Amino acid sequence: MSPFERVAILGLGLIGSSLARVLRTQGLAKEIVAAGSRPSTLARGLELGIIDQACGSVADAVAGADLVILAMPVGGMQQAFAELAEAIKRSSVIVTDVGSVKGAVVEAARRALGYVPATLVPGHPIAGSEKSGVEAGSADLFRRHKVILTPLDETDPQALQRVQNLWHRAGAEVILMSVAAHDQILAKTSHLPHLLAFSLVDALARESENLEIFRYAAGGFRDFTRIAASDPRMWHDIALANQPALLEAIEHFQGSLNMLRDAVQQRDGESLLNIFTRAKAARDHFTHMLAGTAYAQTMKTPMTEFHVQPGGRLQGRLRVPGDKSISHRSIMLGSLAEGVTEVHGFLEGEDALATLQAFRDMGVQIEGPTQGRVRIHGVGMQGLQAPAQALYLGNSGTSMRLLSGILAAQAFDTVMTGDESLSRRPMERIAVPLRTMGAQIDSTGDRGTPPLTIRGGRHLRGREYRMPVASAQVKSGVLLAGLWAEGETCVIEPAPTRDHTERMLRGFSYPVITEGNRVSLQGGGKLIATDIDVPADISSAAFFLVAASIAEGSDLILEHVGINPTRTGVIDILRLMGADIEILNPRTSAGEPVADLQVRYARLHGIEIPEDLVPLAIDEFPVLFVAAACAEGKTVLTGAEELRVKESDRIQVMADGLQRLGVKAVPTADGMVIEGGKIAGGQVDSHGDHRIAMSFAMAALRASGRVEITDCANVATSFPGFSELARSVGLGIDVVQDTSTVQN
Ligand code: S3P
Repeated sequence: MSPFERVAILGLGLIGSSLARVLRTQGLAKEIVAAGSRPSTLARGLELGIIDQACGSVADAVAGADLVILAMPVGGMQQAFAELAEAIKRSSVIVTDVGSVKGAVVEAARRALGYVPATLVPGHPIAGSEKSGVEAGSADLFRRHKVILTPLDETDPQALQRVQNLWHRAGAEVILMSVAAHDQILAKTSHLPHLLAFSLVDALARESENLEIFRYAAGGFRDFTRIAASDPRMWHDIALANQPALLEAIEHFQGSLNMLRDAVQQRDGESLLNIFTRAKAARDHFTHMLAGTAYAQTMKTPMTEFHVQPGGRLQGRLRVPGDKSISHRSIMLGSLAEGVTEVHGFLEGEDALATLQAFRDMGVQIEGPTQGRVRIHGVGMQGLQAPAQALYLGNSGTSMRLLSGILAAQAFDTVMTGDESLSRRPMERIAVPLRTMGAQIDSTGDRGTPPLTIRGGRHLRGREYRMPVASAQVKSGVLLAGLWAEGETCVIEPAPTRDHTERMLRGFSYPVITEGNRVSLQGGGKLIATDIDVPADISSAAFFLVAASIAEGSDLILEHVGINPTRTGVIDILRLMGADIEILNPRTSAGEPVADLQVRYARLHGIEIPEDLVPLAIDEFPVLFVAAACAEGKTVLTGAEELRVKESDRIQVMADGLQRLGVKAVPTADGMVIEGGKIAGGQVDSHGDHRIAMSFAMAALRASGRVEITDCANVATSFPGFSELARSVGLGIDVVQDTSTVQN
């Protein structure tokens, strides 16, 4: 059965005709009729077969309709409502519209009818193009686009539901918000940019005596002004209909433009650089956020795959990217410090960049990253500003848990969100101790997952917290909140975890006391800017430590790797299995021990992994499971239930993948039992988990056939450039995107 009997579309332009095509192709209406100001347009609609009847008047069109779609310019809405009055009074016809301004549409209904009907569902598809007209329409126009619906208090929930269903069937993502929020957001993101595009083209056209100049106006001009080819009448209507919000947006923009003019006039290069850097970073971040939506879709149809040829050996020297944990912390403490912090070796992976963007969103000026160099202009302990919107932290659990501690102590409210994987991860483990310090934090759903909403203006009190699970993220989050808390904040760990926060706080001249498993600090101090040299990440080096250990003939040197004793569990475990790893030239760099690591092929044997090493190698188990699969005999891991709540359930996902490659791997509640032996080729799913993707890439070195790994895009969260670097030392890896090879 069709959801609608008769749908009347008033206005058969780009949007109206696209909706007609959706209704037609999806079989959503028994009859589609249209009315509009141009008979020729309606005639073309009939010819194209997208409508069944062209009506001479609105009254004719809406007679007997159960859905009316107002798809004319906003300026024509009041007239349309007046003509609809009878039909609305007589029946429960649902009315929806597609106008770019919502306040004006509701107002038009009120003026024409004297009230706002309960069956009016104001809507706005954020789709379209500079093209207009019935010919330009397409049934796919709304696919994967957002549609905003702005129901009012009086809106009938059933009417809302039916309009929502219509948009879902068009392939759109429906978002509900208030009329006022819609108009303010769209003034900034759509109406102002259109105005600027029209204005720039007009200014140039008027200014230049002869229009020759446009011949040379390619590139930036063309990109910037594409939307100035939009329908003038429609934009005339929108600009007037959204007057107050648009005026505010123009004024705000004028202020920014004046700042730029002054900077240019005064040859103030530093300001220019700051503004451009900030804007570029924000733009890159938006691109990523939008890709984040696409990522949610690619969870079903993974786009990036690794195809790894079997066999080979690894030789040479390499430096893997900077340590992820230290990179996060350098941005956090650098932002809160007094003075300018210079960071070298910063990890330009998406997780650390998410932290960087969060602090930019809170008003901190951060230059870079450029080839691992970042300059942070610290704002001091009280200098963060309220972000304009929710902080988006992508895939990064570390960002969210550490930031929870910092944000709990601020004067302003914040919301933190993340991608699909992060949205499933437990956040109560950090919210619980922070609440006992006086913080107000709300997580979501029964399982205490993101988004997290943190209320500002709370007075925090220091306390002693005995952690039930060994977690460096929780320890760090609590200690960071302690910087603002009254009195002493103290964390007692059940087992040692990475201590980068403590070390870096001391590096920023903040006293921290460590006595055995007890770490404490006094609130109310300040951080003094310092320079940070981020060592190469041992968690990234781990893939190569295992790879060279399992591939006969390998001999590899990994340069400048961080060997903080709270991180070297992977070396200890591999050595217990018989690996040949030498620590060369140990030294200290900015408070962290580093060394070069030489690793050569060795015959590994299975072991029972000592439980006290688990927290010290927590991120390295995916690749250690691969080592176990190549070892002689049985390897048993216990006491590692934490692996089930990482970026994926690393016990289940690794066991599934290993089994696909013919390895005897039996998952247990808190670990795995692996019988070493032969590895076959085959396809494994990384479930979007970066470390699982890279681990299976290394397994190919010992496989009898090609190993294909799906859903690998997230490798960029911790190890940008992984495939190129691995290839440069001998791994036969190709990155395949959507069935076409992009890197060889
Ligand atoms: C991290 C701590 C670890 C680790 C994560 C980074 C950190 O998590 O798994 O990748 O930077 O503090 P937990 O110690 O919280 O389990």
